[in-house]
Amino acid sequence: MLEISELTGGYFPRNPVLHGVSLRAASGSLTSVIGANGAGKSSLLGAVFGFLPHVSGQITLDGKPLTGMKSHSVAREGVRMVPENRGTLPSLTVLENLQLGGLGLPAPELRHRVEAELDRFPRLRERLRQRAGMLSGGEQQMLAIARTLMARPRLLLLDEPSQGLAPVIVEQIFALLGTLRGGDMTIVLVEQDVGLSLEISDYGYVLEKGRVTREGVASTLLADPYVREAFLGVA
Ligand SMILES: Nc1ncnc2c1ncn2[C@@H]1O[C@H](COP(=O)(O)OP(=O)(O)OP(=O)(O)O)[C@@H](O)[C@H]1O
Ligand SMILES: [Mg+2]
Repeated sequence: MLEISELTGGYFPRNPVLHGVSLRAASGSLTSVIGANGAGKSSLLGAVFGFLPHVSGQITLDGKPLTGMKSHSVAREGVRMVPENRGTLPSLTVLENLQLGGLGLPAPELRHRVEAELDRFPRLRERLRQRAGMLSGGEQQMLAIARTLMARPRLLLLDEPSQGLAPVIVEQIFALLGTLRGGDMTIVLVEQDVGLSLEISDYGYVLEKGRVTREGVASTLLADPYVREAFLGVA
């Protein structure tokens, strides 16, 4: 369980962009944080992953405090993030990117996990020797997710996987994320695509100007008139 309580933080000491955010993501669940541009979604993930410079409040994973830890220490606790810019290495091949995601694993386990990810993302198998920089946007997003899953994280943080992708690709990626639910991994997804993300989520939070303004079971939130009007453009 990821538990964030009364988190205030930002990039400068007296200028917080998050104001008293509290959030719980149950183990094995998929939790969405939805909000407009600039709401603080990436900053919130940054705070969990240890690169928001000024934070107060508490962040714990299965009871262990993560607050104030540097990213490499957070990563050692089994946390991984797929950043907004995807973070794949463009000059390396698909295979090399996947192998990097499993850095330090014994060779048989590494091979096993690469195979598992290629089964999960057949498009990547077809492009195994291709440089990541030559992939389409959707394929790069798939690679970014697959590479992160190589580490079998306990907590997976996803920053706007839909960004810049064609709707049909977004649907494929979200369908896949939905299949990751209910396993050992806790997933926090931040998104502007409110409809799709709530559809695959267990629980959701609405973030506005650095504050949680609504939360609830994803299906309930999706039916909430305020959410529908503010984020889905329907009354
Ligand atoms: N590196 C930074 N330095 C200073 N301010 C920043 C930095 N990154 C973001 N901010 C500010 O923090 C606030 C929240 O930004 P954040 O990137 O967390 O929003 P977001 O919800 O992820 O938006 P988007 O949907 O556009 O990705 C904004 O006002 C933004 O200008
Ligand atoms: Mg962002």
